[in-house]
Amino acid sequence: MPSPRLCNATILSHTAAGRQYYRLVLKIPGTVSLPLPGQFVMLRVTDTIDPLLARPFGISSVLTRTSIEIFYRVVGRGTMLLSRTRPGRTLDMLGPLGRGFPMPEKGIQPILVTGGSGFPPLHLLAKALKKQKYRSVIFIGARDRSELPPAGILRSFKEQASALHITTEDGSAGKKGLITDLFAPYCSLPDRSVKAKIYACGPTPMLKSVSTVAAECSIPCFVSMEERMACGLGACMGCSVRRRAGGYLRVCKEGPVFEAEEIAW
Ligand code: FES
Repeated sequence: MPSPRLCNATILSHTAAGRQYYRLVLKIPGTVSLPLPGQFVMLRVTDTIDPLLARPFGISSVLTRTSIEIFYRVVGRGTMLLSRTRPGRTLDMLGPLGRGFPMPEKGIQPILVTGGSGFPPLHLLAKALKKQKYRSVIFIGARDRSELPPAGILRSFKEQASALHITTEDGSAGKKGLITDLFAPYCSLPDRSVKAKIYACGPTPMLKSVSTVAAECSIPCFVSMEERMACGLGACMGCSVRRRAGGYLRVCKEGPVFEAEEIAW
């Protein structure tokens, strides 16, 4: 795999998407390798000198050979500065980085589970799976309607899925409750004859619940971890998570995608 490099990415479009998210479309150099589902890029607004303001972003779509789509919400100073940038502006970009989702073997049914703002990497995965004719079942959970993926992405998830299930904790869209309320019974269906593989991205408590259900149902499970990152290159250890077998794993280097059983939840 070619080593990731620092480059300039030019903002082609930057708009609010729903009440919580921003949609960012970047033009990237043709020499940069295209991201695989689950990989990420580090972005930094070019006129800031603070390296800690570089932030990791999952990629939701590869639009053309030289343009990618990202969705994010403002969670701190780095994303607040980013949200003020306009088309034509360039950003420092490093990537694509990290280890993405492994594609399932033929005949396996993919089950995708996402919560909160964790949907972008799973959207790219859902598109790749559909392209290869897999019939994915997709579960999307959120606290409320405004936290669900923006309408265009929800429509696209529906197009990629053989079945789409939505929950919100307040019942403002889909079924009321947690996504695991629907996901767990689905995984433990007694007549489950198709072998499955689970792919999940979202808040850590959700990933922990998903990995527990997966283990109980003996379904292999891959999770994409969301951690704060500084270097993105495995040098600072700032993104480490505890490994079940002892020691630590760096989300940016050994991840962000891990087998769920590798993690000490
Ligand atoms: Fe520095 Fe992962 S962000 S080691």
